[in-house]
Amino acid sequence: MGRFRWFLLGGAASAAAYWLMRYLRPEHSPLVLNQAVVIITGASAGIGRAYALAFARRGARLVLAARRAEALEEVRAEVATYAAEVLCVPTDVNDDAQLEALVQAALDHYGRVDILINNAGLVDYGTLQNHHPRRTRQMVSTNLASAINLTRLCLIPMLAQRSGAIINVSSMAGKIPTAHQPVYAATKVGLIAFSDALRRQLEGTGVRVVSVLPSYTDTEMVAPAMQDYVREMGLTVDTPHYVAERTIDGLLKGEQEILFGGAVMLFGAWLERHFPLLATLAQRYVFTPNLMAMMEQIKAEYVAKAKEKR
Ligand SMILES: NC(=O)c1ccc[n+]([C@@H]2O[C@H](COP(=O)([O-])OP(=O)(O)OC[C@H]3O[C@@H](n4cnc5c(N)ncnc54)[C@H](OP(=O)(O)O)[C@@H]3O)[C@@H](O)[C@H]2O)c1
Repeated sequence: MGRFRWFLLGGAASAAAYWLMRYLRPEHSPLVLNQAVVIITGASAGIGRAYALAFARRGARLVLAARRAEALEEVRAEVATYAAEVLCVPTDVNDDAQLEALVQAALDHYGRVDILINNAGLVDYGTLQNHHPRRTRQMVSTNLASAINLTRLCLIPMLAQRSGAIINVSSMAGKIPTAHQPVYAATKVGLIAFSDALRRQLEGTGVRVVSVLPSYTDTEMVAPAMQDYVREMGLTVDTPHYVAERTIDGLLKGEQEILFGGAVMLFGAWLERHFPLLATLAQRYVFTPNLMAMMEQIKAEYVAKAKEKR
């Protein structure tokens, strides 16, 4: 009799666990990308450029935003074979009036906004003592405040349509705040928290919020010397194309958080969450004074290049 009771209890517990798993499983998205209107910030280079190509190949109608108008025109030419329509709107995301003009341009041209990709971003490396206060403000504004303000503007048409998707491009630095980029990590943790809170706020409205957390990716943001070092450590450096394609795959599967960087990064994120002390010890081992000195050098080159581009 005792055994029979255990058998019944075990069966009931398994059924409950199975039901819970099915209940919590992400739902496939009803989004149709063909003809969807997609606003991409930071579309002039790197991952944003790859998003433009990936969405264009699925028949989306694009709105490309970044500061460099000529670079946006290059992207327009690159995606022209696939994209039905492309609107280039030179925009500095740190200017609220320009953000309003961007959303208005999309609405005037297409009459709707289906997907917003908050991708524009800046990085800074090295010790906090060597961070310039102006650049710190610019980074917090570009990576976080601008994404929040642009999301707010896009929510108005999306809520009226009762459909839409906000894709916030954060970083694995938002899960594993590393010693060599304290301010950058702060902005990326903030963007994940914003996405999580907003997702809860928007439940039942038809508007979805997705966090994308790229790991090291082969763009101008990661200097060649840094990429070499990352590979030497046995980590992967993804291509922007892979990040864009995996994002679309995750978006359509209904994933809320799309993580990159392979097993090592996933393990790092798990360690950080459950055993922060061990994560701190691991970083002590990785971020040696030599590495921090290399970061200062890389930072100087990155900042000089950014000034050259402007
Ligand atoms: N590469 C990586 O390893 C990596 C890893 C994790 C997360 N991410 C994130 O992925 C996103 C894209 O990075 P990426 O690697 O593609 O970098 P990237 O090649 O340096 O491109 C950055 C983009 O942001 C735009 N941007 C910067 N400031 C802007 C502003 N004030 N207004 C409008 N656009 C601005 C740039 O365009 P303009 O200069 O023309 O304005 C450019 O298109 C960022 O959010 C980054 O934090 C990257």
